[in-house]
Amino acid sequence: MRIAVLDETKAGEPRVAVTPDTIGKLKGLGAEIAIEKGAGSGADIPDAAFEAAGATVGTAAATLKGADILLSVRRPSADAVSKLAKGALVIGMLDPYSDAEGMKAVAEKGVAAFSMELMPRITRAQVMDVLSSQANLAGYRAVIDASAIFGRAFPMMMTAAGTVPAARAFVMGAGVAGLQAIATARRLGAVVTATDVRPAAKEQVASLGAKFVAVEDEEFKAAETAAGYAKPMSAEYQAKQAALVAEHIAKQDIVITTALIPGRPAPRLVSAAMVASMKPGSVIVDLAVERGGNVEGAKPGEIVTTANGVKIVGYNNVPGRLAPTASALYARNLFAFLETLVDKKEKKLAVNFEDELVKATCLSRDGALLHPIYAPKA
Ligand code: NAI
Repeated sequence: MRIAVLDETKAGEPRVAVTPDTIGKLKGLGAEIAIEKGAGSGADIPDAAFEAAGATVGTAAATLKGADILLSVRRPSADAVSKLAKGALVIGMLDPYSDAEGMKAVAEKGVAAFSMELMPRITRAQVMDVLSSQANLAGYRAVIDASAIFGRAFPMMMTAAGTVPAARAFVMGAGVAGLQAIATARRLGAVVTATDVRPAAKEQVASLGAKFVAVEDEEFKAAETAAGYAKPMSAEYQAKQAALVAEHIAKQDIVITTALIPGRPAPRLVSAAMVASMKPGSVIVDLAVERGGNVEGAKPGEIVTTANGVKIVGYNNVPGRLAPTASALYARNLFAFLETLVDKKEKKLAVNFEDELVKATCLSRDGALLHPIYAPKA
């Protein structure tokens, strides 16, 4: 069983799909690991550290040659995948909802492609939950980035020269990223409020010492899907939510937005008028910017300063801003999934295509996209 890992830094992705820690574990499953030269550089892992853990390091071509499994962070190119044998496995964050044509080109190379984002949120698969492992770090980093850009202090300080008030932070979307953002902002001493459309979020927000601000009507009570995600809200709810947010946001120094709905563009929660109501120097971090953005005026990869002096931060790939930590957790997620695809006694691949984790994540097989998300819409 041969595992390949390519260098993703060339595509602007600093994370890497294995670490010296998981190489040891993969070898325990009977795998040989080949890694492209420089693959760990964005995550502070030198080639020598991979070699010391027992991997071979070489060119991309040598890495892919004879591989049974390609482990990746992002969706690999159809060209890279074409170097793999038919039936080889490709496992990574394949971004299944975007660029279906690009995904089809990968599928047509005959690989079995698995998208880690589609892992079901069940107890057995918690250790494989890449959305959680990466979103948690993004939530933390969003607050650290906001504090670095904000020209004032977060905590209240009582000094001989006078009292500095605590910053007011508002977190919109209290899922994995939002809850970590709340905890981080609290640790830095901000006064924190948060909102979400799922009722379950209310208690979680309160347990972290933040105040919950939301329109709690009948629609709110039914806004969580069986999978634990938010439903798209009606125009009527959104209008009520906007009215509440408009009043609240004008008093905030820091806003962190994290709201997502799987398979859809991010909901627009902050309008240009709301941004215009904020004080100069306030900072908004839009973690949903790559999914269309929660904030009007946010631009992917940019910090936009508005006419009234509010900074809207739209960093791309925020987990990648903590690449060593993000890689360590992601590589563990991948290992945990791979462990379920291997016959440990025989030390060889034994994928059970009836397993619920495999069914949920497998996008393609035998040259075709087969996941229900690609079924024609009725
Ligand atoms: P997500 O990344 O899809 O969305 C982020 C947050 O935005 C969610 O809390 C969502 O409710 C919120 N949101 C969506 N539309 C909104 C709107 N219009 N206004 C305000 N907020 C809005 O969600 P994430 O972070 O992946 O978590 C979803 C749920 O799954 C959470 O309850 C989380 O605790 C739960 N979860 C369960 C796991 C398990 O059981 N193994 C593992 C990880 C998370």
